[in-house]
Parts: sequence; structure tokens; C-alpha cells
Amino acid sequence: MTSPQWPTWLPLRKDLQTLTPYGAPQVRSIAQLNTNENPYPPSQALVDAIAERASEVAKNLNRYPDREAINLRELLAQFINQREATNLTADNVWAANGSNEVIQSLFLAFGGRTALGFVPSYSMHPIIAQSTSTEWVQADRENDFTIDVSKACKQIRSTKPAMVFVTTPNNPTGTCIPIADIKAIADAAKEIGALLIVDEAYAEFSDETSAATLINEHPHIVVVRTMSKAFAFAGARVGYLLANSVIVDAMKIVRLPYHLSAMTQAIAIVALDHRAELLHSVDELISSRKRVAQELVQMGLTVMPSSANFLLFAVESPTKVWQSLLDQGVLIRDVGLSGYLRVTIGNEAENLEFLSALKKTLGGQA
Ligand SMILES: Cc1ncc(COP(=O)(O)O)c(C=O)c1O
Repeated sequence: MTSPQWPTWLPLRKDLQTLTPYGAPQVRSIAQLNTNENPYPPSQALVDAIAERASEVAKNLNRYPDREAINLRELLAQFINQREATNLTADNVWAANGSNEVIQSLFLAFGGRTALGFVPSYSMHPIIAQSTSTEWVQADRENDFTIDVSKACKQIRSTKPAMVFVTTPNNPTGTCIPIADIKAIADAAKEIGALLIVDEAYAEFSDETSAATLINEHPHIVVVRTMSKAFAFAGARVGYLLANSVIVDAMKIVRLPYHLSAMTQAIAIVALDHRAELLHSVDELISSRKRVAQELVQMGLTVMPSSANFLLFAVESPTKVWQSLLDQGVLIRDVGLSGYLRVTIGNEAENLEFLSALKKTLGGQA
């Protein structure tokens, strides 16, 4: 998309004038495998529970919601404590409309100076940096998309950012950073007085220990999570962070009053009550990811090891392959990474559609 031509009378900030709105194409397709959504819709039991709760909440929509979203934050803390054997409370949790809003709040509170991230990674980090007038410094990942910890620590010490971003499992590569490396990066961040933001949007698909286990000892670590992926709740827009309580206090300074609607808070609580059912899809998606990766390898393609619900694979002409797949009704993501495409793991039928369309494309029949 080219940047919009803004009229001269519009006093839009200069640094925003060349930007284009973020957005993966929302094209109707047979297999929609481009935004790392969970392909499994809520069960009828969950739909019914949401509808019932929503109709109760609707009776009080003349009132503002709980500004602090205390019940939801308490339940999120319990969920993490169960999974990660942590000892967090609602004071360690902040929730917002998707983890993108959480990240934006972090930039509002701690940005305005410099933030550093290891690329390729989640493209919204630098975009939010720009919209909050924060200088974004790119530190490179290695060719296999790992982070060389000693290089990373050196760069952190020399750049002295206010925030360091590490995404693990990383989007778009799927690769994971070992917890020992996260600790080393956290130490370097601490030395220069920076926060380490660990974006764990895909954590539930990974076996690696969560950085949430480090929060007690390292108060400058912030872990960002979402209900959009493993919980299959992207449409509800619920993300959260886990951190020392003073960081949560800082979030309350920058949040808009009543930012999380009563409906969102209520249905997120229903989803958390149904977590056993919702998280069941994670195991299924991990098995499918392994099967799809094997098939890609059998086609002679290089596939990055993934700890998420998507795969990054190498192809010679990504743009052509992407278009050919779309022409066959399969929408995947050209992440702008030279020589690679990313595919979200879908349901069984979608994965088969993708594999068959890709075989046709690479065999020159499409
Ligand atoms: C690494 C990462 N962080 C954060 C997000 C934002 O997710 P949401 O705003 O839906 O919680 C995404 C979405 O794809 C992501 O890939």
C-alpha cells in the first residue's frame, strides 16, 4: 500500500505523513492462513455461556465497567500461576484490548526515547515506536534467526535504550530464545536501567520456560501475552502483561479510563473458565505444525524450527508463490523477508489445501 496523500491543511505530525496503515490483507479465501489466528471457532457450549453472560452484562451497560478489571486480572494471574508455577497476583497483571494495546501502553509510559528490538520480528513493535515518537534501533538476529547473546548484550550496553524487545517464540520466524539467554539479556538491560519486554504471544505453543518465572527476581522484566492465539479469542481483543506491580501502576497512568469494556472483561472471564477446552486446540495445532513441516521438508523446502502456530519456510520467489497460492484460494503471509513465506497452521482441511496448492505451484502446474 502506498502512503496516503494528505491534504496540506491537515496538521498531521510530520513523522507520520509517510506511514501506511498496518494491515495484513483481509481477503476472503478458502484457507485463511495469514494472521496466525487459531482456526477453531468456539464450541456451542462456549458460545452459549458467552451469550448468557453477555445478556447479564447488557443489563448494566448504562454504567462504566470496572476500570481496574480486577476479576479478569486475578483470573489471568491464576492461569499463569497454574501453567508456569509462578506466584503472581492481580497486581502483577495488566489487561487491555489485545496485546497490541498493552505494547502501546508500554511505549506511552516508557517510550519517547530509544527502544531496541531484534529483527526480523513482530512488525508492530517499530510501528508503535514511531507513533509514540520513540526511536527504534534494530539489532540483527543471526542467519538462523537466533540471537547471539554476547553481541546482543554489547549492543544493549552501547545503545542504552529505555526498552529492549525480545519476541519468543518469534513472529515471523517461529524460533525460540532459551530462558538462559533471556536472563543474560535481562542482566544487560538491568545494567543500563532498561526494561526488557518479552513478547510471548505464542508461548502456549512452546516448551520453553516462560520469562514470567523471572519477574520476582528481575523487576524490570515485562512479559506480554495474548488470548488471541492459544485461546482462539482474537475477535474479543484481550491481551495482558505480567510484571512487577510498579509497572502495572505505570500502565494505570497511561491507560484511557474504562479502556476495557464490561463486555470484553466478562467474556474473557468466560473464556478463562473454559480454558481446558480452548487450550486443547494447542496440542492439535502443534501436531499439525509438525505434520505440515514434514511435508514441506519432503517437498525439498527449508523450514525454520517453530515453537508457534505457524511456519516460516524458504522459497525462491516469495511474491510469485504467494500470488499463486492466493489464486488457488489459499491466503498465507509474505512477511517481506527476502526468500521466505509464513503460513499459519489451520485446520486439517486448510492445511491440506495449502499443501496441495503449494505442490501445484512448485511443480509449475498453477
Ligand atoms: C508477537 C506478537 N505480539 C503481539 C501480537 C498482537 O496480538 P493481539 O493484539 O491480538 O493480542 C501479535 C499478533 O499477531 C504477535 O504476533
